[in-house]
Amino acid sequence: MAKTLERKVFELSRECEFFTEKELTMQIGHEKDFWYVALIKELMDNSLDACEVGCIDPEVGVVVTDDYFEVRDNGPGISKKTIIKSLNYFMRISDKQFYVSPTRGQMGNALKTVWAAPYVANGIGKVEVKSKGFEHVIETSLDRIVQRPMIEHNSQKKASVKNGTIVRVYWSNSATLEDEENAYSYKAKPPSIEEIVSQYSVFNPHSSFILGNSKHNARNTNWKKWKTDMPTCIHWYNEYTLRELIAAYVAFERNGNNGKPKTVREFVSEFKGLSSTLKQKKITKGFSGMFLHDLIKDNDIDMDIVRGLLDSMKENSVPVKPYSMGLIGEDNFKSWLKLNQQIIEESFQYSKKSGFDKNNLPYIFEVCFAVKTDPEEHRTIITGLNWTPTLGIPATEISEALGKCSVHKQDPVVLIIHMAKPRFEFVDRGKTRMAL
Ligand SMILES: Nc1ncnc2c1ncn2[C@@H]1O[C@H](COP(=O)(O)OP(=O)(O)OP(=O)(O)O)[C@@H](O)[C@H]1O
Ligand SMILES: [Mg+2]
Repeated sequence: MAKTLERKVFELSRECEFFTEKELTMQIGHEKDFWYVALIKELMDNSLDACEVGCIDPEVGVVVTDDYFEVRDNGPGISKKTIIKSLNYFMRISDKQFYVSPTRGQMGNALKTVWAAPYVANGIGKVEVKSKGFEHVIETSLDRIVQRPMIEHNSQKKASVKNGTIVRVYWSNSATLEDEENAYSYKAKPPSIEEIVSQYSVFNPHSSFILGNSKHNARNTNWKKWKTDMPTCIHWYNEYTLRELIAAYVAFERNGNNGKPKTVREFVSEFKGLSSTLKQKKITKGFSGMFLHDLIKDNDIDMDIVRGLLDSMKENSVPVKPYSMGLIGEDNFKSWLKLNQQIIEESFQYSKKSGFDKNNLPYIFEVCFAVKTDPEEHRTIITGLNWTPTLGIPATEISEALGKCSVHKQDPVVLIIHMAKPRFEFVDRGKTRMAL
């Protein structure tokens, strides 16, 4: 009789989910070759999101050398507490995850990938962060036998560290990786950091980007978009996402993060159009003096109350107009094209569409097209979601549309597609592919 294998049920700590190539590829949403670009993108997203909070015109710098890559910003800085929390691999930490709003980051896992990836990719896990008067060094590795990541975090007070945040990720051959000629490979090649930085500039006319000696100046500092510190709109929530947000506040209170519990009325007042006392009183009639933790029933937030609150809050406020989320606009696309591409001006076309999707979420869709002056040039496609470029076309519907319109790889054209929405249905943790 053939010998049979008696399989053992091995245990793997959830903490290790970021510490193997297979798992990290899922978290980042890209193969290893793309990691360093994807990580630079995540850091740039964080920088922009953070700067916009303090009404700061974002200035984001990127440095790539043989030993490391670095992203710096002029934002309010990342606190030591946030860094410490982000090193807990059992928890996602995010100031965006539970709020439904059009932000670049939404998952609360990007920093975790930043700490783990240099170790998994190169065997040396070292990241330095300078922010809010501290210099942090985070070193990671994996104890394969104990099945646990080993994380060392040292922080030192540094008077010289003042504004903004600098994140330096030690990554061997960062610069040469970029130059590697892949011409004979069938594998998709990651875009260069120059391309990525330039694409950020397309979607963020209010921001400046510096890469080495080259600078993409802000083209329009008056351009307005939804900012992370703006109240969110109750019409962007459904009963499930509202319940999640209330539960997150209660958990936050329980974990001793903020001594003072939140009342139902305070919670209601945080939404757009609901700050007036009159409206708060009307909506929270019957909840007078009650706290969010009083809405708990059977270890969950009482869904009947959530539904009632949601309906009443919606009745008392108007939905935000889709374009208020931040239309990039024809002029801002045109100004970028003029500076960055050689195009036949008369061929430029721009189209925009806005509306509400099947879940009643507002969306903006913008498309820009131009023919390049050099007929030998090939097609350039730039796609972006919520003001951040995507590595690849993010939805099959877009690829199909390109096929139908006969826009082929060898055509000398530029096509820019951008979509903004308070929440995308991403089908992966790396926020790379979504269901339209
Ligand atoms: N450059 C920065 N300046 C200030 N705060 C930052 C910066 N980078 C990160 N943070 C803070 O750290 C938190 C965690 O960042 P992280 O990128 O892991 O999650 P996220 O941006 O909320 O979501 P996502 O995982 O989708 O990017 C952010 O929510 C933000 O509060
Ligand atoms: Mg992020």
